[in-house]
Amino acid sequence: MKVKQKKSRITRVHKKQILTRKFLIQENVNPARNLLRHRTKQRKILSNMYSKHLVNVKYIKENLKIKGLCFKKCHSNALYELDQDHFLGLEATKKCVEDLVFKFKPEDTVLDIGSGFGGVGRYIAEKTGAHVTGIEMQKDRCDFAVRATKNLGLNHKVSFVNDDFVTTDLRNGSFSKVIAFLSILHIIDKKATINKVSNVLKTDGMIYFEDFYKMKTTFSKEENLKLRNIISCPNLLTRDEYFNELKMNNIEIQSVDDLTENWKHCAASRFDEYNENFELLRTQVGKVKSFKALEFAKGVLDLFDSGIIYGFRIIGKKTGYAVG
Ligand SMILES: C[S@@+](CC[C@H](N)C(=O)[O-])C[C@H]1O[C@@H](n2cnc3c(N)ncnc32)[C@H](O)[C@@H]1O
Repeated sequence: MKVKQKKSRITRVHKKQILTRKFLIQENVNPARNLLRHRTKQRKILSNMYSKHLVNVKYIKENLKIKGLCFKKCHSNALYELDQDHFLGLEATKKCVEDLVFKFKPEDTVLDIGSGFGGVGRYIAEKTGAHVTGIEMQKDRCDFAVRATKNLGLNHKVSFVNDDFVTTDLRNGSFSKVIAFLSILHIIDKKATINKVSNVLKTDGMIYFEDFYKMKTTFSKEENLKLRNIISCPNLLTRDEYFNELKMNNIEIQSVDDLTENWKHCAASRFDEYNENFELLRTQVGKVKSFKALEFAKGVLDLFDSGIIYGFRIIGKKTGYAVG
């Protein structure tokens, strides 16, 4: 009995020591290494998500084929119907190009964060004469963007870099405009992203973002799973956090539009379409991709429906002074 008591006391002390050591180790974790670990994990989740995305290189080429067109020789207009991977597609890009506040000029140097298949940049260059640089993390999307741009003879105006915007080397003050259509939502360190956007902009340079913000700060396990793993939108900022971050980085907000209802409607139509044609989809793209597509469409719709994510468009201008 005596021995037993002693043993259990030692065990308790031992457990305490182990816990203290564990705690100390966690406390001492290098924040930079921690961020690197999260960034690497997020890159994997994102690349896994986009590798199963329904809108992909094969999808674009097959849809051109259905219309009797060939990727190498088709007109840019045919491609614009397929290569804009954001809510409302070409309609949203046209709105950006026609915006009277944002106003593209031929001498503009534009940075497109998360340029996808390059359609947005090509449209801007073709319609306004501006020079566009796209940064895209997924290699297959970036390779497609480079090839399509070359085929269309726009490579003197539009170029692409296959990299992560947050870590890629860009010269400070080298862009007069920064655009981001549904890409910042995927980036884990949003504050570093906004800071870098401000750094690469010239004074008086402008931003045009279409993005998500979150409505609340705590989420259920299921909501977190949808946000992080299914639609790959980690660490969303609240509206106030987003706007404050812009202000702290000398970006003055010129206009904000709430796009939630519009995007909720798009998300609902997409889910209905995938759901109603699920069997056909399964024979076309296989079991895994069709299931992932449905799961993704439902994830976005649920998050909009439950008021967790909001969609917005923001135009801002970098000032030479701190914005109060
Ligand atoms: C919803 S798609 C939009 C693509 C494009 N902006 C468009 O509207 O057609 C988001 C894109 O952002 C890219 N992306 C996400 N995080 C990125 C990062 N850190 N650096 C570069 N690209 C990124 C994704 O790979 C994806 O192609």
